[in-house]
Amino acid sequence: MISKLKPMSNKYIKNKKIIRYQNPYFFGSEIKNIEATIKSRQLTGPNNFVSKCEKLLESQLLCKKVLLTASGTDALEMACILAKFSKDDEIIIPSYNFPSAATSIIRCGATPVFVEVNSHDMNISKNSIQNAITSKTKGIILTHYAGVSAQIFEIMKIANINNLIVIEDAAQAIYSKNKEQCLGTIGHLGILSFHQTKNVFCGEGGALLINKQKFISRAHVIREKGTNRNKFLEGKINKYSWVDQGSSFLPSSLQAAFLYEQLQNGTKINKKRKLIFENYHNFFSKISKKYNNIKIPSIIECNRVNGHFYWILVPKKIRPKFIERARLNLIELTTHFEPLHSSKAGKNYGKTYETLKQTQLLSEQIVRIPIHTQMKKSEQKLVLNILNKTIFECFS
Ligand SMILES: Cc1ncc(COP(=O)(O)O)c(C=O)c1O
Repeated sequence: MISKLKPMSNKYIKNKKIIRYQNPYFFGSEIKNIEATIKSRQLTGPNNFVSKCEKLLESQLLCKKVLLTASGTDALEMACILAKFSKDDEIIIPSYNFPSAATSIIRCGATPVFVEVNSHDMNISKNSIQNAITSKTKGIILTHYAGVSAQIFEIMKIANINNLIVIEDAAQAIYSKNKEQCLGTIGHLGILSFHQTKNVFCGEGGALLINKQKFISRAHVIREKGTNRNKFLEGKINKYSWVDQGSSFLPSSLQAAFLYEQLQNGTKINKKRKLIFENYHNFFSKISKKYNNIKIPSIIECNRVNGHFYWILVPKKIRPKFIERARLNLIELTTHFEPLHSSKAGKNYGKTYETLKQTQLLSEQIVRIPIHTQMKKSEQKLVLNILNKTIFECFS
């Protein structure tokens, strides 16, 4: 019984403070940039920190065009409008996913078609995509889960054969790479999130990554409430007016001012988190050999991970006890996405051509381990020591 569990000896719990699943890290100069923005009396973008962030991201990611947005969800909505998804179109997405891809699809009047994920990386299954393609399919929105690449190059091949638009949801995958290309820059369009839970953050924020020239000028209009304000700011027209559909997707320069400092430290953040991820991966590789009912992600050679988070799969019957036991010993473990296909809105707005049993099972097995950008070696050691003991207690 969970209620009878007792914490381990104090030897393992030195600081007596729970190690949270995540802990946002500030570099210090965020406040300086925000002050400068306030003093400039120009809190609206894009000709300030907004375009500074965009240019920096374009050079860091080698991306044709980056447009900052107020959230990752906004960037997905922009991508779906640009892709011209509309009524009667079917768009393939993994059911094991954050809801934003699905809500962006239904706002265009199209239907999300839910497919399976692989158990080795929790990313969209290539075979399941192939099984879901019909004459109505217009696109695929894939997620790079935990910053580990989906089979993006193989999926691009399928998309090209079937004339489909691919949007990469790289919300969790800033700076991750596949074959030396940054995730989000390989499909037709990509998105990033700068939500506080992400490696690089500004509270709420996002970016649209445009990898095809043909989308750029319309994307500016869509971001600016359907107006040609961008041309006005460039001095190309005297007055701006309503020319297309759109919404208020441009972030405030206050958000961008904060973000700029984080982006300037992007390489440092990436390096630190990657090392923690690798430390965990080495540990759990040994553990999974000892306990064959614990499964770990498999990272293929061409993948460069960003250490967004580390996950393991444990039997669903043991999971509540494992999480509770770790919490009692001041380590916060978390579960993750609920399948979209069986959610209230998913049943209402989406469809599926498969039973998606694997997605259901995996969502009941996943456990995420704390990673913080500033996590010290001693804290990582503490997490692993406690988990080692907890695993012994729960799985032996
Ligand atoms: C895979 C994925 N896509 C989209 C989003 C939405 O991003 P935002 O919160 O910036 O709107 C998230 C957020 O957690 C996410 O994890």
